[in-house]
This record gives sequence, structure tokens and C-alpha cells, in this order.
Amino acid sequence: MLVNSVEKAAPLPVAVIGAGYWGPNLVRNIAMNPSTSLSWVCDVDLARAERLASTYAGARAIDDVWAVLGDVDVEALAIATPPSTHAELAIAALQAGKHVLIEKPLASSIEDAEKMVAEAEANDRVLMCDHTYCYTPAVQYMRDVVHRGELGELQFIDSVRINLGIVQRDVDVVWDLAPHDLSVLDVVLPPGVGVRSVSATGADPIRSGQTCVAYLSMELDGGAIAHVHVNWLSPTKVRTMILGGSRRTLRWDDLDPTQRISIYDRGVEVSLDAEPNSPSTRQIAYRIGDMVAPALREREALSGVLDEFVASIREHRAPLTDARSGLRVLRLLDAARTSIANGGCAIPIEGWCTT
Ligand SMILES: NC(=O)c1ccc[n+]([C@@H]2O[C@H](COP(=O)([O-])OP(=O)(O)OC[C@H]3O[C@@H](n4cnc5c(N)ncnc54)[C@H](O)[C@@H]3O)[C@@H](O)[C@H]2O)c1
Repeated sequence: MLVNSVEKAAPLPVAVIGAGYWGPNLVRNIAMNPSTSLSWVCDVDLARAERLASTYAGARAIDDVWAVLGDVDVEALAIATPPSTHAELAIAALQAGKHVLIEKPLASSIEDAEKMVAEAEANDRVLMCDHTYCYTPAVQYMRDVVHRGELGELQFIDSVRINLGIVQRDVDVVWDLAPHDLSVLDVVLPPGVGVRSVSATGADPIRSGQTCVAYLSMELDGGAIAHVHVNWLSPTKVRTMILGGSRRTLRWDDLDPTQRISIYDRGVEVSLDAEPNSPSTRQIAYRIGDMVAPALREREALSGVLDEFVASIREHRAPLTDARSGLRVLRLLDAARTSIANGGCAIPIEGWCTT
């Protein structure tokens, strides 16, 4: 019987850096996953690290990241600290020979992200970005459907991620929430379809000092348009993405566990008669077909993140959401920031294409 590389190897010892809001989710999954073992929980706030580590047998708490980097038994770090600290911590870890799973966004500037990509390549280590949603069964299904061409030619993408969110100190709503939508775009867009430009508008109606509501529009290769709405001020929570194609339209609703994905065989078609350039000769036809809701297994996305992290290390390959994918997401975030600061003008993106 074939045993895959993740199952047969000893568990990968991982230290978690950052025990705030998201760190505990990493800690729990690392402790539970048979292919990983939890070695350290590290936070500059030692009491916080101790509280978290004390709930898992064998995990030790520490407030000194440099001591963790010096521990030869630690093979990998999972970093869940604020984005402004990502570059320094990840580069130090890569130089110490550790593999790194880093939270989104990869870094807080493109310059830092490029240094991180270079450092991972120079040290031959895996640097993976925790683009969590890319590992949900729904997004993996969406990726397969789009890559097999079942939707036809992509015409539009509409993503909404709104709720009453925590107003962050070091990032605005675009850098906090849009990495999720943009990373999904990054893995779902078919090879060869890239983003050509980003225009964005944002507002801070509560005068918090951060953009709290934002709308991003992206022009895609082939004439399609992608739109992302992110908002910290909405009392209703919405998590939907619609992918409209020339043959079918797919709707992902992450808050509906009974029907996360719906595929509609419905759409609008334009047919042309003998004089194609005359508007009066265009025929608009509405196609009304079935809707299919595939059965998807339920699985916590972070367990898929860890499986991919370990498999990419064992198989010596890039993970699905490698640092380059993190950098592509960052280029869109950076363009959105520039656009918002300049009244919503379109910012061209050179050579942005998935692989
Ligand atoms: N993947 C997801 O769905 C998801 C969800 C939420 C947050 N995040 C990401 O996780 C990261 C952390 O976010 P959070 O909401 O948990 O932040 P947080 O502020 O709640 O926690 C960060 C923790 O890091 C600690 N810390 C800061 N600098 C440190 C250092 N140099 N060494 C050790 N510890 C340090 C802080 O003391 C704090 O406990 C961010 O990048 C955020 O975008 C990802």
C-alpha cells in the first residue's frame, strides 16, 4: 500500500509565535494534527503564552523568539503576530534554517515581502502564507470548477466580506479583510488570467483613523471585472462570492453550511444576426436552467493549511499559497491603498498572473 510522505514521516515540530486572537487556532490545529507537534508557544506577553501553552501537553511557553530560533529541535515556525512584525520575524527564522508559515498579509510592504521571498529561496526553506480560505473545501471545489472551464469564460466576480469588525491599529479594512478575497482570487483564477488594474475607494465615517469601508474594482485579462467589498461597520455579516461565467454562474456562501456552493445554469447570451455591428440586430437571450448544490465535506480549513505546509516541506515543493502568492496579493493591496489615496484612480498592475 502506498503511504503518502506526510503520514510516514515523524511529526514536524512547530513553534507558534503570537498568542493573541489567531494564534490559539494555530496552536490547537498544530497540537491536533498527526503530522505536526507543538513545541513552543511564544509571545512577548509571557502570561498570554503560558495560558495558551498550559492547555496542551508538552507545549512550553516562552517570551524570547531568539531562543526559539536557537532550538535545533524546532523545524518550523507558525507566525501570528501583527503584520508590521512579519518581515523581521520571518527573515530571522528563515536565516536560522526554519520553515515558516506566516499569517496573512505576508508583510506590510512590497519591499519587505520581496526580501522575504528572496530569503526563503536563498535558504531553500518553505515560506507559506496562511491564506486560510484557500483550504476550505468550498474554495478548492471552486478552483477545480473554474480550472476545468465549467463556468465558461469568466465575466465577473463579486465578493462581499462585511460584518461588525474590530477596528485594527496597524492595518485598515482593506489590509485586514481583503487578503481573504484576493487570495481566493489568486488560487481560483485560471492560469493566464491576471489582474490588469485596481481602483478602490474607501471611507472612515466613524473617524477611527483607519479606512473602515472599502470597494475594490479590478480589471481582469479577457475583459472580466472583479469587485470586492470589505466593511467593518456592517451589523449584518455577509461572506459571499459570485463567479459569473459565459456558461454557468457559481455562488459561494461561506455562512450557509447546508449549501455553501450553488452552480446556476442560467445567464444572458447575446446572439448576432447577419449585421453584427448594428445594435438593433443584437438578440438578448436569457437561459433559465437548473441550479446544482454539490455536497461538500466539512473540514476546518486550518487543518488543510497544515497538511499543505508539511507536504510541501516533505516533498520539497512550493505550497499552493507560497510566498509568491502572498506577494501577488500584496501587490493588489498596495495598489488599492494607492488608489484610495488618489481619489479612486486605476492603478495598473504589470505582469500579475497566477501560475
Ligand atoms: N488567517 C486568518 O483567517 C486570520 C484571522 C485573524 C488574524 N489573522 C492574522 O494573524 C495575525 C495576528 O492577528 P491577531 O488578530 O491574532 O493579532 P493580536 O494582536 O490579537 O495578536 C498578536 C500577538 O502577537 C504578539 N506579538 C507581537 N509582536 C511579537 C513578537 N515580536 N514576538 C512574539 N509575539 C509578538 C502580541 O503580544 C499578541 O499577543 C495578523 O497577521 C492577522 O492578519 C489571520
